[in-house]
Amino acid sequence: MLDVSRLLLLGLVAGLLYVLHRRQSRDPREPPLVSSRIPLIGHLVGLLWHGLPYFDMVTAKHPHPICTLDLVFSKSYLVTSPPLVQAVQRNRKSLSFDPFVSMTLERMAGIRGPVLEQFREKESGGQGLGHDVVHAMQPTLSGRGLDVMNERMAQMLRPRLDELVRLPTIDLFDWCRRVITAASTDASYGPLNPYQDPRVEDAFWDFESHMSPLLANFLPWLTARTAWKGREAAVAALVKYYELGGHEEGSELTYVRWKTMHDAGVPTEDIARQEVSMAIGLLSNSVPATFWVLYDLYSRPDLLAEIRAEVREHAMRVDADQRHIVDISALRDQCPLLLSTFQEILRTRSVSAPTRFVLQDVLLADQYLLKAGGVLNMPAASVGRTTETWGSTADEFDPRRFIKSENKNPRRTGGFMTFGVSPVICPGRHFACSEILALAVMMVLRVDVTPVDGVWRVPPMNAQAITSSMRPPKEGIAVRVTPCQDSEGVEWDFEVKAGTGAFNLMVG
Ligand code: HEM
Repeated sequence: MLDVSRLLLLGLVAGLLYVLHRRQSRDPREPPLVSSRIPLIGHLVGLLWHGLPYFDMVTAKHPHPICTLDLVFSKSYLVTSPPLVQAVQRNRKSLSFDPFVSMTLERMAGIRGPVLEQFREKESGGQGLGHDVVHAMQPTLSGRGLDVMNERMAQMLRPRLDELVRLPTIDLFDWCRRVITAASTDASYGPLNPYQDPRVEDAFWDFESHMSPLLANFLPWLTARTAWKGREAAVAALVKYYELGGHEEGSELTYVRWKTMHDAGVPTEDIARQEVSMAIGLLSNSVPATFWVLYDLYSRPDLLAEIRAEVREHAMRVDADQRHIVDISALRDQCPLLLSTFQEILRTRSVSAPTRFVLQDVLLADQYLLKAGGVLNMPAASVGRTTETWGSTADEFDPRRFIKSENKNPRRTGGFMTFGVSPVICPGRHFACSEILALAVMMVLRVDVTPVDGVWRVPPMNAQAITSSMRPPKEGIAVRVTPCQDSEGVEWDFEVKAGTGAFNLMVG
């Protein structure tokens, strides 16, 4: 009988032979191969070490319109030119996002066996339920469903902002995480929201912020213990939520997702697993995006003063009871500088790298052969910041870049990739934009914030939080909070006008 060490050795040799065979079978029409300093495993190690910005580091050094990275077990084609992004968009059948959904359900959510095959995309022999769930939920994130979520979100934000005024110092990132988690999950799950329990909230963030070893899917309870334990605790809390009928009182989003899976015969535990992966969509970008909006506003006092004045004049009113009311839809419609600054922050802080799987061999733009089984990424920091798209100031922070005027049209194809690239555009962007702007605006109107050590220092990024494309920091920043003089003793509230929730900002 073979012992374990011999089996491992055999596995290693087989793996090496496979990798060498794949390298030799490269077609000369494939995009140029970029070598790494450490042979064979260099790019894989780089990606695990640096997270998504690794793609930008590679493309900055190798300015090809498209190149190939060997990631040992798969090939990644990195697209860096806007015309090639358009060619990717034209090949939507062969270059598909759908396998990404089933991959994350397997590796991230821990769904296996026949249920995984139910979720898997039809092109790969599955029953396509993953696609059906996304399709069913999309309308719930606009229209009346969105209005209800926005109302609940605003109700949750207000008391937390009232409380902030009384806190002398906070960790800015941790504070954003607590507040956005509370507001987003309450809006989504309703009165029985399982994330109201701080243990479940912490378990979710353990899962999210230690994600990359979990995705390797190799003995996850051992090799990715923190993420695995966190996920299992969140799954158990969601199972209880469904058993108590929490989804009957939650948002349309949560109900429709549950119904689509339940009607297809998915067991409750797997519905809960799917839902934990949904919380990644709900939170993992909104939290760091809120942090960066606050960081980029408070660290630019002149811009902050202009934005405060604009909001006071166009999106805030004082009612008969002297309450100061911020109208969320007016932030979008009446505050061009705020809206432009917001988009510029998203443009400059995003490290999104929209993904497509190569389902069959494709000759991209009649020139580059992409082989079936490969993965394609379009890193925002390269494609989304080219001078051909944004002009000579592409690398600069220009808060007025997105202001529309007669002689300036900020809409450019393939340039703004924070919310993905058509046809895969984030369906939660309307909710995210209202939430982030509502929180940031009410905060800047009510308090001043300065770093405790006196300097705004960019914190290092958490590379293990690989599902977030908004540079989640690894450590927070301690800041001092001082109430603004003219806002003290004043009561504040939000106004959410029905039917105005859509933030149709620029997308790629
Ligand atoms: C600032 C906040 C957000 C950012 C930057 C963001 C970004 C993105 C991006 C880039 C994608 C496409 C992924 C790819 O092509 O690889 C995406 C997809 C998605 N997002 Fe968001 N997102 C945000 C907030 C949200 C929220 C609040 C929700 C839920 C309410 C959400 C739900 C989703 C879902 C379900 C998908 C998958 C869509 C599909 O499969 O077609 N996102 N998001």
